[in-house]
Amino acid sequence: MKFEEIITNRYSVRKYTDQKVEPEKLEKILKAAHVAPTAANKQPVHLIVIQSVDGFEKIGKAANIYGAPLAIIVCADHNKAWVRPFDEKNSCDIDAAILTDHMMLQATDLGLGSVWVCYFKPDVIKEDFKLPDNLEPINILAIGYDSTEGGAPNRFDDARITMEELVSYETL
Ligand SMILES: Cc1cc2nc3c(=O)[nH]c(=O)nc-3n(C[C@H](O)[C@H](O)[C@H](O)COP(=O)(O)O)c2cc1C
Repeated sequence: MKFEEIITNRYSVRKYTDQKVEPEKLEKILKAAHVAPTAANKQPVHLIVIQSVDGFEKIGKAANIYGAPLAIIVCADHNKAWVRPFDEKNSCDIDAAILTDHMMLQATDLGLGSVWVCYFKPDVIKEDFKLPDNLEPINILAIGYDSTEGGAPNRFDDARITMEELVSYETL
């Protein structure tokens, strides 16, 4: 798929078939995360791949992953994150988001659906997956084969703010 097709074909999938994600596809998705940029190349990130019944039971206590056969918990490592010296802004959320987006777009290119999930109970994830204090779960990416009709090609006309609202040139 061309890049433009990947970004316009992608939409949030909230209903999946039972078909598992092939290991080769999972590997490509994880490689997309591996090559993602991070602030100062600190790579303050760790991925937890969930595909087992036990894993889904645990994640299900914290989040709705819409029956996807694969979920990746994207964690930020506060011990490694770059911090901007002027205002102490920590980059780890941004770094985790870039990895998540890379994986989501790679999944689209492989013919898979996905949904980015932030509505989860972080304390439950931390407890059930025994995360150390420095690891914070930031995003969950649910991935699998779409069992819905798909997104309408012109959906962005209504589902997005206008280009004028989005962009200013040179000044507000
Ligand atoms: C940071 C972030 C958090 C999100 N959290 C959730 C979530 O918890 N549950 C959910 O169903 N969708 C979630 N989404 C998906 C958005 O609702 C979705 O991307 C948005 O409505 C645009 O629709 P589209 O992805 O189909 O283009 C999230 C997306 C982003 C980028």
